Amino acid sequence: MEIRELRKSFGSQEVLHGIDLDIHRGETLVLLGGSGCGKSVLMKHMTGLLQPDSGTVSLEGKLISGSSERELTWARRKIAMMFQSGALFDSLTVGENIAFPLHEAGIKDEAEIERRVGEALEIVKLKGQRAKRPSELSGGMRKRVALARAVVEKPCCVLYDEPHAGLDPVTGDSIDHLIKELEKEHGITNVVITHEIRSVFRIATRVVFLKDGLIYWEGTPEALKETADPELQNFIEGRSEKSAHL
Ligand SMILES: Nc1ncnc2c1ncn2[C@@H]1O[C@H](COP(=O)(O)OP(=O)(O)O)[C@@H](O)[C@H]1O
Ligand SMILES: [Mg+2]
Repeated sequence: MEIRELRKSFGSQEVLHGIDLDIHRGETLVLLGGSGCGKSVLMKHMTGLLQPDSGTVSLEGKLISGSSERELTWARRKIAMMFQSGALFDSLTVGENIAFPLHEAGIKDEAEIERRVGEALEIVKLKGQRAKRPSELSGGMRKRVALARAVVEKPCCVLYDEPHAGLDPVTGDSIDHLIKELEKEHGITNVVITHEIRSVFRIATRVVFLKDGLIYWEGTPEALKETADPELQNFIEGRSEKSAHL
C-alpha cells in the first residue's frame, strides 16, 4: 500500500499534514503516537472509510482514495479491519457473526460458508464456541470473534485499532500471538495501533511514530529500544511503566 502526501482536516483542524508511508507485504507495522494525533484517522484512510482532502492511498497500484463505495468492494475484501467488540451482532451466534461478511459478499453455498467459518474459528482458537452468542463470551473471546470475522474473507492485510484496549495482559498476549501467527503462517500483512509498548516489541517488524500529523520517526523495534530521542524515550518509558502496573 502506498500513502502519498495525505492531508485531512476536520473543520479548521488539520489532523494529517502530508503523510507518506509505504506498507509492505508480510510486515507487521505498528502505529504509535499520542492520543488524538491521528492514528485512527490514518487507518480509516487505508480502507476507504475516510477520504483525504488531498493526497492518495493506493493498493497494488490501484487508487483507494477517491473511489466510490462500489469501487471499494475489492479493496475491502483485501483489507479487513478488526473492529472493537461492540461491532458484533448480539442477536446472532458467533458462527453467524463470522459468516456475515460472506453473505454480504454474495456467497450462497452453505457448505462453503460452513467450511470457511470453521477455518476462521480454528485460526482464532474458538472452535467450540460457534453456537454461542457474543454476550456469553469474555471480552478477549469477543475480540477473537471480531478477528475471525475480519479474516474469514481471506484478506491480505488486517488493520487493528487498539486490539489490546480493555484486555488484561494475559488476554492481550494471546491477541499478540494471533497477530503474529497470521503474519507467519498465513502471510497476512498487519497494521496495528496500540498503546501497549510491551506488544510493540513482541509483534512489530516496523514501527512508525506519528506526531503533529506527520511521521516523526520510523524504524525497527530494536532501533526504537535504543533511540536517543527524548520524545520517544518518554513515550516508551511512560507507557511501559503504566503497563507494568496493570
Ligand atoms: N469524524 C471526525 N470528525 C471530526 N473530528 C475528528 C473525526 N475523527 C477524528 N477527529 C479528530 O481528529 C483527531 C485525531 O483523531 P484520531 O485519529 O481518532 O486520534 P488517535 O491518534 O487517538 O487515534 C482528534 O482531534 C479527533 O477529535
Ligand atoms: Mg484512535
